[in-house]
Amino acid sequence: MTLALVTGASRGIGRATAIKLAQQGYRVAVNYRQRAEEAQQVVAQIREQGGEAFAVQADIADEAQVVALFQRLDQESMPLAVLVNNAGILFTQCRVEEISAERLQRVFATNVTGTFLCCREAVKRMGKHHGGAGGAIINVSSAASRLGAAGEYVDYAASKGAMDSLTKGLSLEVAAQGIRVNSVRPGFIYTDMHADGGEPGRVDRVAATAGVIPMGRGGEAEEVAEAIVWLASEAASYITGTFIDAAGGR
Ligand SMILES: NC(=O)c1ccc[n+]([C@@H]2O[C@H](COP(=O)([O-])OP(=O)(O)OC[C@H]3O[C@@H](n4cnc5c(N)ncnc54)[C@H](OP(=O)(O)O)[C@@H]3O)[C@@H](O)[C@H]2O)c1
Repeated sequence: MTLALVTGASRGIGRATAIKLAQQGYRVAVNYRQRAEEAQQVVAQIREQGGEAFAVQADIADEAQVVALFQRLDQESMPLAVLVNNAGILFTQCRVEEISAERLQRVFATNVTGTFLCCREAVKRMGKHHGGAGGAIINVSSAASRLGAAGEYVDYAASKGAMDSLTKGLSLEVAAQGIRVNSVRPGFIYTDMHADGGEPGRVDRVAATAGVIPMGRGGEAEEVAEAIVWLASEAASYITGTFIDAAGGR
């Protein structure tokens, strides 16, 4: 058995991914920032299905907490094979002319710095040059990195653009070390995130607007998780540095 770490797995896409990875036979570390009860519910659901999981609190925007998170994984008697960098945040819809430095720092601290730090710690454990057995990293970016999120959250879109560059660059750095680095870029998915952006009904509003989503509907977290789990699997053994758009054609 090997370990899989999913950041931000207490809810949404991370939760669906953790459950599917457990079904594939990984022992899953369910990371969360503050919602311990939801994380424990994910762990309980995995165990009810006969899988293995445990919850680990850590704010990935804080370097000391990221280090402690990976040290917790080191206590397991099995190697880390999969890292899913899923934790991500956005704030209320606004225009660039209204944006504050404090907001920018918070978005980039989680979405960019946090993802970088988790990659750093994972590479030190997975890389063959560090005595590891290789592994797979999947960064959950967004269609916003291509589209820009104008009038809503260009800061968030830019943070996802930085994640895309990280995916490409790191994939080249560690390809010879047995680590594959890929990305899934979701479109409009039914999760709590849109409430954080100030519009809980955003996915339904957009889905009802002709032409915005070619498939004419929002996506489910499980549909994104399928792509993540496939990129993590041996079925994707010759694939690195690439992006799967899970966005209904958008
Ligand atoms: N939903 C969409 O339409 C959509 C579209 C494109 C891309 N995405 C991306 O998909 C990923 C997951 O989104 P989602 O919609 O599933 O989000 P969500 O429902 O809002 O869940 C966010 C998760 O991330 C965790 N989290 C947030 N900040 C964290 C931090 N600093 N450290 C550790 N965990 C943290 C939360 O933990 P707590 O529960 O403890 O707060 C929660 O588990 C994000 O990267 C997002 O940008 C989503």
